[in-house]
Amino acid sequence: MLGIVGGSSLTDLAGLALLRREIVRTPYGEPSGPLAFGTIAGRAVVFLARHGFGSTIAPHEVNYRANIWALHAAGVTDVVSVASVGGIRGDLAPGVLAVPDQIIDYTHGRAATFFAHNGRPVTHIDFTHPYCEAMRERLLAAAAAAGETVVSGGTYAATQGPRLETAAEIDRLERDGAHMVGMTGMPEAALAREIGLCYGAIAVVVNHAAGRGASAERVRLEDIAAVGRRAALRVHGILHQVVARHGG
Ligand code: HPA
Repeated sequence: MLGIVGGSSLTDLAGLALLRREIVRTPYGEPSGPLAFGTIAGRAVVFLARHGFGSTIAPHEVNYRANIWALHAAGVTDVVSVASVGGIRGDLAPGVLAVPDQIIDYTHGRAATFFAHNGRPVTHIDFTHPYCEAMRERLLAAAAAAGETVVSGGTYAATQGPRLETAAEIDRLERDGAHMVGMTGMPEAALAREIGLCYGAIAVVVNHAAGRGASAERVRLEDIAAVGRRAALRVHGILHQVVARHGG
């Protein structure tokens, strides 16, 4: 079954025929909210709002372990994460959708693994390619079927937040090889890999990163919501195709 984790630009799923909501308890505490079980194009999917109902949970406060655990426990095998980003590379302007293929993790102090304090031998995961390639291909094919242009590939820098970056920090991220910057991509992707989920992401560029383009002087936070809302409609179209073309 497909799970969809929606970020600040996708707080609910229009087009989801809701069947029930379920609060899932996990060994790691409470997920961001109840899982919404429903159907898209007649197929079962589960939706979870990453920042909770009313978007009250900040990126560094999201219980990523509980969220991923709950999806897995509910029978989810494949996950699409929808995450807002600032665009660093010139072509990643507000309104652009991207399917990233790499991650650099700058977050700290987040509970970032299931393999802690469990009394078992240390376990490592291969994370060379942090996103599930099968999901990336599904997303790209779905975007094409939906008639949406998306940027294939790109390196996602995960920052701690909740503040945005300084211009110098963005320069550094670019030197590091990052193309876009967001606050929630990690540890979510790593936890999904640890638990065996096929995880991919749609990055929604909602602003130029600090010091770039229209954000040369400041990031106009007041513009971000409208960009996200417009993009959400297109993301819905892609998600519909993900489900309709391949099944849950
Ligand atoms: N930086 C970090 N996270 C973000 C941004 C940004 O500019 N825009 C949306 N999420």
